[in-house]
Amino acid sequence: MYEHDVLIIGGGLAGLRAAVEVTRAGVDVAVISKVHPVRSHSNAAQGGINAPLTDRGDDWQGHAYDTIKGSDFLADQDAVEIMSQEAGEAVLELERMGVIFSRGEDGKLGTRAFGGQKVARTFFVGAITGSAILHVLFEQSLKLGLNVYEEWFVTKLIMEDGVCRGVVALDIKTGEMHTIKAKAVIMAAGGAGRVFEPSTNALICTGDGLALAYRVGVPMMDMEMIQYHPTTLARTGILMSEAARGEGAHLLNAEGERFMQKYAPDYMELASRDVVSRAEQTEINEGRGFDGNVLLDLTHLGREFIEHRLGYLQEVSVEFLGIDMAEKPVPVQPGMHYIMGGIKTTVDGATNVPGLYAAGECANVSVHGANRLGANSLLDTVVFGRRSAVHALDYIKGVGPASRAEEDLAPEKARLQALLDRPPGERIATVRDDMARGITKGIGVNRDQASMEGALENLVNIKSRLPGVSVENKGKVFNTDLMFALELEFMVDCADTIVAGALARKESRGAHYRTDMTERDDENWLKHTLVYKDDAQEHGTRVETSPVTITQWEPVKRVY
Ligand code: FUM
Repeated sequence: MYEHDVLIIGGGLAGLRAAVEVTRAGVDVAVISKVHPVRSHSNAAQGGINAPLTDRGDDWQGHAYDTIKGSDFLADQDAVEIMSQEAGEAVLELERMGVIFSRGEDGKLGTRAFGGQKVARTFFVGAITGSAILHVLFEQSLKLGLNVYEEWFVTKLIMEDGVCRGVVALDIKTGEMHTIKAKAVIMAAGGAGRVFEPSTNALICTGDGLALAYRVGVPMMDMEMIQYHPTTLARTGILMSEAARGEGAHLLNAEGERFMQKYAPDYMELASRDVVSRAEQTEINEGRGFDGNVLLDLTHLGREFIEHRLGYLQEVSVEFLGIDMAEKPVPVQPGMHYIMGGIKTTVDGATNVPGLYAAGECANVSVHGANRLGANSLLDTVVFGRRSAVHALDYIKGVGPASRAEEDLAPEKARLQALLDRPPGERIATVRDDMARGITKGIGVNRDQASMEGALENLVNIKSRLPGVSVENKGKVFNTDLMFALELEFMVDCADTIVAGALARKESRGAHYRTDMTERDDENWLKHTLVYKDDAQEHGTRVETSPVTITQWEPVKRVY
């Protein structure tokens, strides 16, 4: 049995930013992660991080309004105000910690344009911004004394009288199970992208954190809000950063037309992501695509510029499709990229379960609403990662030692052993793929009642097959097969909440675009969906709603 004052689940940007804050306070803290922290999915974030710096003539109100408009007015405006107000200091602090942001000719931190924003306010490190920040935060937190359980897999949250008091976890390297007690747990375990197929997300993004919280009674908010990124590389699903369009790339259809002219004449390729993805899908559906793709054209930018500013994208394009972007446009299509929904939290990262906090992609403080702006995710991780740590530090002052944490170990060991003991049955990969393809088909860029009901029907079938899934590897050491089985169960929980949220929302808003209800309905649906686990209901979910917080920006029609 292990014990810490604060335990952070996840070693990505939100988790490590929280870790820096707790270590600075001299409080005992550990990060537990199923991969080495610098292999977290934050590592894949390319384009940048938004901040309205006043020395550029920018202001937080401008960033807040662009974010709220981008969210199709579903974001909670108090949370957005906090994020925008704290953004400048958050980014400058990263620089002071050692992140070497790209600079302009004048020596000042450089910015690039990103979608849905009136001002170029995205700070970046080439096209490897997430990786650069992640490494610095990891170094900083290690220097300050962070404990790390790397390659440990959390299977259950420990609850004591309705309060979260730690975790039960599997040490993947040895196959042994342990309890780790904590006065506060911060969930920062990333998103659930792999509930979809394909996805730009790493294979580790299986919604573990969302499902763990959901299982102890935390509502999942706005789970129907799934972001399809407009530019994922054809045939591979790999992210081609919005930075390309921010730096001037064009989107072309089969007629050689910059088709965004028809859909977003003011913002063109830099309209918000839901708008651009829908436009691409319309072009493709109406026969003006190339084999299910449109073209991303950078040829007019010149080789030197492409290699200097977007070198990583050029490498990906050459490596995977053999296309030199300086010579030829690359085929791209909308691809699942991010989940705006997640664990409902306050602006301090608190959930409805005392002792349990959440930050980053697994959380929904509601700054992204129905559509996230590019480069606001990194900002969300550092602002709300820090805030959740500050609040957790305050909370633990009044918390004594846990008393019954050990009691959860034996049943959890038995549960995993039962999985291992199953007779040969269906392969995990087959069921996982069937689930993900069913969800993607039903909850796509466009959706309607029939497609969403199809996703539900598929999910019912998947759930009936779960008990027949077998773990082929019976060994203890590095049993990834066992992990995949546990991840599949987490993904199915997430899928439940996504489908329930989607079926509940009877309007189109942001990424939730229903072809059978194409209008936004502020009168009835300016509200969040909250999905609770409820085994008494037919599909195991109960949907409630809660109001959206409006501070100063009344919803208006969204035009780009
Ligand atoms: O396109 C991108 O570089 C992605 C950025 C983001 O999702 O924030």
